[in-house]
Amino acid sequence: MKMSPLFVALLIAVLLSATATGPSEALNSKTFLSPPIFLRPGSVSNKWYYGIPFPTGHLALKSFNAELVDEHGVPVPLHETYIHHWALGVADKLGCTECRCDLYNVTVDEFGRRIGDDYVGGLRCCYDQTRCGKVKDEGLADGGEARKLFLRYTVMWLDWSDAVLPVKIYILDATDRALLEGESEPACQIEYQVEECSSEDRAKNDCVHVEATKEVLPRGGDIVFGVAHQHPGGIGASLHGEDGRLLCESMPTYGEGQEAGNEAGYIVGMSACYPKPGTATVRDGEALTVVSNYSNERQHTGVMGLFQILVAEHEQKLPAAAGKPGLCFSFPVSWCLPSWLSSNM
Ligand SMILES: *[C@@H]1O[C@H](CO)[C@@H](O)[C@H](O)[C@H]1NC(C)=O
Ligand SMILES: *[C@@H]1O[C@H](CO)[C@@H](O)[C@H](O)[C@H]1NC(C)=O
Repeated sequence: MKMSPLFVALLIAVLLSATATGPSEALNSKTFLSPPIFLRPGSVSNKWYYGIPFPTGHLALKSFNAELVDEHGVPVPLHETYIHHWALGVADKLGCTECRCDLYNVTVDEFGRRIGDDYVGGLRCCYDQTRCGKVKDEGLADGGEARKLFLRYTVMWLDWSDAVLPVKIYILDATDRALLEGESEPACQIEYQVEECSSEDRAKNDCVHVEATKEVLPRGGDIVFGVAHQHPGGIGASLHGEDGRLLCESMPTYGEGQEAGNEAGYIVGMSACYPKPGTATVRDGEALTVVSNYSNERQHTGVMGLFQILVAEHEQKLPAAAGKPGLCFSFPVSWCLPSWLSSNM
């Protein structure tokens, strides 16, 4: 998975209140298939598709659920094919999914830049078309069968109406050092490495790696949804306001079986927050703290600690320009008289 600048503010519409559901507000649902993805044991596919099938028009997205399926439409379990980094039939599955460079036969990254010895694992070692080398069954060494898979995704949406409030999506990255280092541009590392805990910490039963940072929300509002993204080894993430108050906590669920959706050792779900509007409110310019915890019982490479939130912004107090002119002041805070009042003055 590749990401554009991580502190992205993208305006998209999401239904906030589903209380009034008249006939014109019926929930639509449609399922689509991606172009085929061909994978051999250990292969990585990291592709960009444009103009993919998707509902069109002015609409409010309700949900987007995706899974990998085979040619017969049967969901593929994570231990065979791992969304993000797929690995099948390989000996060291966790090593492959964590993109450990020693398992991929690469010396340069996707852009031809040399990979130094100090880079143990991560996206730079497993990009599109690379292969995790140590294939379990040596008979497969020259590839094995290519498997044809698809991403099957279901989109649910409503047609736009006045009942829909727009929200902003923020993806906060626990590795962004910008604010802590006084830089103005985001400096998201996207992925990071978790070193194995020391013997002292192990003795104290304290093998938890904490990655934390601060991110400023330019405009405040109500957080109405929050969920974290972590990799295997993750043990939870949280988001706090400037005063430390908990805005959202997101915890992973690990699978316990073999079947798709319950794969042992893999994160099969992250809990999410749906705060009632008004209960997780953020000020304009508030610095939020993002925390991502991993178990460091063992080393992990290429892990992530992202927190995705949806914010319904507070109504902007528009200065005079829009509509009828009002009378505005900048002291002690910026405020305006309503135009019906000021027009009578
Ligand atoms: C590893 O990469 C080198 C150079 O690209 C290539 O010559 C070699 O055959 C590869 N080895 C394996 C096992 O794929
Ligand atoms: C993260 O780890 C710290 C230190 O162990 C702990 O205090 C905190 O509660 C953890 N947060 C989550 C969300 O698990």
